[in-house]
Amino acid sequence: MCGIIGYIGKENSIKHLIEGLRALEYRGYDSAGIAYFDENNSLHSVKAAGRLANVEAKLADKPVSHCGIGHTRWATHGAPSDVNSHPHGTASLRIVHNGIVENYASIREELTGLGYTFESDTDTEVAAKLLDYYYKEEKLTAHAAIERMTSRLVGSWALGILFADTPNVIWCARKGSPLIIGVGEDENFIASDITAILKRTRNYYQLDEGEIAKVTRDTVTVWQGEKTVEKPLLTADWDIEAAERGGFAHFMIKEINEEPSAIRTTLGCRIKNGLPDFASDAFDVGIFKKVTRVHIVACGTAMHAGLIAKGAFASLAKLPCEVEIASEFRYNDPLIGEGDLVIIISQSGETADSLAALRLSKEKGAATLAIVNVIGSSIAREADSVIYTMAGPEIAVASTKAYSVQTALMYLLVIGAAMTRGKLDADSARSKVTELYERAPEAVAEMIARENEIGSHCKWLAEAEDLFYIGRGADYHLACEGSLKLKEISYIHSEAYAAGELKHGTISLITEGVPVIALCTVPSLCEKMVSNIRETTARGAKALIICSHDAEIADDTASHIIRLPKIASELAFLPAVTVLQLIAYHTAAARGCDIDKPRNLAKSVTVE
Ligand code: G6P
Repeated sequence: MCGIIGYIGKENSIKHLIEGLRALEYRGYDSAGIAYFDENNSLHSVKAAGRLANVEAKLADKPVSHCGIGHTRWATHGAPSDVNSHPHGTASLRIVHNGIVENYASIREELTGLGYTFESDTDTEVAAKLLDYYYKEEKLTAHAAIERMTSRLVGSWALGILFADTPNVIWCARKGSPLIIGVGEDENFIASDITAILKRTRNYYQLDEGEIAKVTRDTVTVWQGEKTVEKPLLTADWDIEAAERGGFAHFMIKEINEEPSAIRTTLGCRIKNGLPDFASDAFDVGIFKKVTRVHIVACGTAMHAGLIAKGAFASLAKLPCEVEIASEFRYNDPLIGEGDLVIIISQSGETADSLAALRLSKEKGAATLAIVNVIGSSIAREADSVIYTMAGPEIAVASTKAYSVQTALMYLLVIGAAMTRGKLDADSARSKVTELYERAPEAVAEMIARENEIGSHCKWLAEAEDLFYIGRGADYHLACEGSLKLKEISYIHSEAYAAGELKHGTISLITEGVPVIALCTVPSLCEKMVSNIRETTARGAKALIICSHDAEIADDTASHIIRLPKIASELAFLPAVTVLQLIAYHTAAARGCDIDKPRNLAKSVTVE
């Protein structure tokens, strides 16, 4: 949800700002802009609606600069346009902002009364002019003016700020939206996340809630209120190759290809003597003996990963588990307290709704556990415990490898829970762990190797206007993820439906030629699924079945059948989701869609 970058140092900042913005485009890409000091210390802004290339085109005269800030936008207040693009400001300052100023209307009115005029529809311009007022009119110091301005704002922000009269300083502030300060040699950065600066440094400070920082070429000073704070210098273990496309056409397909190794890396360090062991995460599975209910709260793909885990909690650990959409959780009077464990699943660790659900759960006295990919992210830091997935950076907006590692890790956790609850003996647990760690990544790799075959099924799907994904049990939950992936990147309308529920209304939408993708990986439900599939083909549907290797399904049941490799049926979700991801990818590719940057979406949703 908007990306921020800032550079101050010996090199030309323009190059680093553009490179950083390119790496951050996954956060939003409807407009972009930079502000920089030129060689004469004059402050300039260049901004444009549309992709970053439009800003680059405006920089054709290649200015030289050693200090600047940049922004790539995902519009909230005001449509994408040149004038609404960031930076915003006055002759005295420029700011870039990620987040939302909820009370912007009343502040705008107040500032209008003081003689300020506004050219954009953004909340950010209001913050910029409020800061101008405290700095220029009330003559506060830069720090005091930022402190005063942010104390007036309601909402969330990560801010990068340049003051025209101090060309050797970048200021920044954070509440509710992520911001880091990258520490290099003779150069420093600010950035929404580490991927933007990996080419230059892996060392960074994480700005905490309410902090304000002053960054020069060789110093970083951070304040919480009046007091300066000593921050631990963190080191990212991601390398730059992990954040680059490396010869793949898109990040999405690169990330699908990384699934087998990501699953192994995530699980490997949590298996000791063939059994789950979360000691290195300082997480005690003994908690599953004490809790009476598990709640998984998440958004989007992470929520779908939670649905797979819910099934495993019930069948293996015999522990009730509910899965809730984070944006709904708070408003449904959740009945949680002591005795409940709330698990927040999040790739980014910054999703605003998931973070709010975590805070509410803590307030109500529930124990909390975060399953998060980004080290040091807000959700990771605020939860009682955290277990990191180790997928490496996920750049494509459509989440793929994150789902695979989240579901695999949750499955390992559930095996641990089942053992500690006396529902699974060590031998059975060991064979499940072996299948998960050894066989599942192989099975995923086997499906990736069949990419061309899977892609060949997508040409007719690409012509569809509507389609259905159906399944029962775990297959219904997979159907939800398959459908979401397709919608996100191909813009084909699709619905995931519990196969048995179709006949209660929705089957009326199935007419000649409507594609139905049917998941059939649960052996005990196969016969029933075949009946449901036949109900749709009898009405003209064109079915594509994804089923287990030995499912008893006659060839004439569907136009196309993709059989998964041999794997324990309870783990078939892993190769099956890879197939669904490849279907979405190739269908979107056949339609000529911009796969890594789908319209209207952003990867990290840091507004509610
Ligand atoms: C956005 C992304 C999805 C993602 C969801 C949750 O909607 O586009 O891909 O699944 O946020 O993100 P999180 O970082 O919390 O997993």
